[in-house]
Amino acid sequence: MSSQSKPRILFCREEIAAAVSRLASEISKDYRDRHPLLLGVLKGSFMFMADLIRLLDFPLEVEFIRLSSYGRGRESSGKVRVVAGLSSPVKGRDVLVIEDIVDSGLTTSFLLDYLQKKKPASLKLCALTDKPSRWQTAVNIDYLGFTVPDKFLVGYGIDWDERFRNLPDICYLEGED
Ligand code: PRP
Repeated sequence: MSSQSKPRILFCREEIAAAVSRLASEISKDYRDRHPLLLGVLKGSFMFMADLIRLLDFPLEVEFIRLSSYGRGRESSGKVRVVAGLSSPVKGRDVLVIEDIVDSGLTTSFLLDYLQKKKPASLKLCALTDKPSRWQTAVNIDYLGFTVPDKFLVGYGIDWDERFRNLPDICYLEGED
C-alpha cells in the first residue's frame, strides 16, 4: 500500500447513520435510567461516539481513554499501551466501551481486562465494526454496527498512518485484498 492509495467506500454515510441509529435504540433500551459511563477509545472512536451520543436522550457520562497498539502502518504491534488514562472512577458504574473497530481483538481484550479490575457494576462493548477474520483473541461484542471483510479500513475516525480520519464514509484502501 502506498501513500497514493485511494480510499473506496465500503459503507456510505447513510448506511453508517442507519447503523448508529439502530445501535442507539438498542443501547437506549438497556441503559435508560442507569446513568452509564460511555468510554470512547481514542483516537478512532471519536466520530462514532459523537454521532452515537447525540441519539441517546437520557443522562449519561462521557469519558475517553487513549490506547495504542499500532505503530505506523498496517500491522498491530500486538502490545497495547495506555497512552492517556481515565479521569472518572469506574467502580460501581455501568460502563459501556465504545470502539471503532475490533481487528485482532487485542486492544479490546486488554481494555476489558483493565476495566474489569476496577470493579464496574457492569461492563459491555459497543463496536462500530468487527473483522472476525483477523481475531487473535475472542471478544464478546454486545452492540455491533458492521461485520467487515479483511480490508484495511479508513475514514469515519479510522486512520492509516494518521491520515483519512476525516472521511465521512467507512472506506478501504485500494490495493488491499
Ligand atoms: C485501532 C482501533 C482499535 C484497535 C483495534 O486503534 O481504534 O482501538 O486499533 O485493533 P486490534 O483489535 O487489532 O487491537 P489504534 O491503536 O490504531 O489507535 P487509534 O484509534 O488512535 O488510531
